[in-house]
Amino acid sequence: MEFFEVRGGKPLAGAIAIHSAKNAVLPIMAASILADSQVTIMDCPRIADADNMLDIVRTLGCRTQRIGEDAVIDTAGMQDWVMPETLAKKLRSSIFMMGPILGRFRKATVSHPGGCEIGMRPIDLHLKGLAAMGVTFQEEGGQIHCDGSGMRGGEIHFDYPSVGATENVMMAAALTPGTTWIHNAAREPEIVDLQRFMNAMGARVSGAGTHSIHIVGVKKLHGVCYRPIPDRIVAGTLLAAAAVTGGAITLDNAHAPDLVAVISKLRDMGCEIRHSLSTIELRAPGRLRSFGQLQTLPYPGFPTDMQVQMLALSATAVGTTVITENVFENRFAHAGDFNRMGADIVLHDRTVVIRGVDRLHGARVAARDLRGGAGLVLAALSAEGTTIVEEVQLIDRGYASLERMLAGLGADIRRLCDTA
Ligand code: EPZ
Repeated sequence: MEFFEVRGGKPLAGAIAIHSAKNAVLPIMAASILADSQVTIMDCPRIADADNMLDIVRTLGCRTQRIGEDAVIDTAGMQDWVMPETLAKKLRSSIFMMGPILGRFRKATVSHPGGCEIGMRPIDLHLKGLAAMGVTFQEEGGQIHCDGSGMRGGEIHFDYPSVGATENVMMAAALTPGTTWIHNAAREPEIVDLQRFMNAMGARVSGAGTHSIHIVGVKKLHGVCYRPIPDRIVAGTLLAAAAVTGGAITLDNAHAPDLVAVISKLRDMGCEIRHSLSTIELRAPGRLRSFGQLQTLPYPGFPTDMQVQMLALSATAVGTTVITENVFENRFAHAGDFNRMGADIVLHDRTVVIRGVDRLHGARVAARDLRGGAGLVLAALSAEGTTIVEEVQLIDRGYASLERMLAGLGADIRRLCDTA
């Protein structure tokens, strides 16, 4: 089992480039199967979720290969519409393969992805959106058999601006005759990037980034070579790492407008942050102060994927902090680990109250989910002594060698493996 060994107290310094966004690359890989020829995804990050998604499209009959930093998907040989259950379990966000498989074959069989560490992760909005386009479903033994033979453009209003459900309907509608409207759509930057990618393939999608998205079905889509947007959560995590260690770093290939909510909170904590359109510079104060309170919300509200990182910073900030998690039901699973490192965190349902302490101390902790694991690493970077972070394969799902990124900025962190 691999783990990180971290010796805290080293201020981060230097510059690093941000890789493409996991949450843009995954839907783009799914949408690639709508093309009748080869798609190249440039700067495709070497993260486990991307590798799992490549396995899924390969199992459906596509040819895939990595050439340098790019991923190439050739869909010409694709003939299967049944999503392998084993792979769907490895990557729950594979549920947004439903839309493109239906778009290409007018039928699909996918597995109910089930919940995960951070919540139940229901898919009712995905099914409601596709049903509005004429798709019918039959659930049997955890498998969902979708019949899209009568698919037409439709008008959907989402009760909640679900990212995955918005993406599923966008992809299902691209090759479906007629016009589709999505109201109360998710507005995340990754939705805008998916629209940009689909239109580069010849789709007719507009409105991404606003509350309403409009799709006019076309007859076919062609292959394309495309560079996804940088990963705003990886960028935010590295800014937080510099902030919590009293350091000063520069992020290249980082899109500050996607991170306004995070930059605002880091400034509230006393960080000096300057940015151009593609770089972000942060200089931390000697000691962070509390930003007061934080609510996670759909974009452009504060991103849930940065919540635990800000919790880790608040543990040693001057003052008391209140964080409320409104998006997922179980994203405070690591509060106990932070307390074992000396933090003073009290949990009340979906809210935590954090009283800042002078310093944390090292401990043996374990990641339970992707972003929680990153939060534990941030706490370890500022803690006194040595911290062991186990289950780092969960962190590898969304960060391409987090330990190398941090060590390159001066952190004392290494990946080790015990033979047990
Ligand atoms: C995407 O998940 C991201 N994953 C998540 O990132 C991110 O946290 C989330 O959006 C919110 O920004 C990918 O893009 C691969 P949602 P998704 O559908 O699409 C409820 C990470 O760490 N909901 O917007 O699953 C759901 O229960 C991951 O990179 C329904 O009720 O998010 C949740 O409370 C974690 N019914 C809320 O909506 C549905 O049919 C947000 O879910 C779908 C969702």
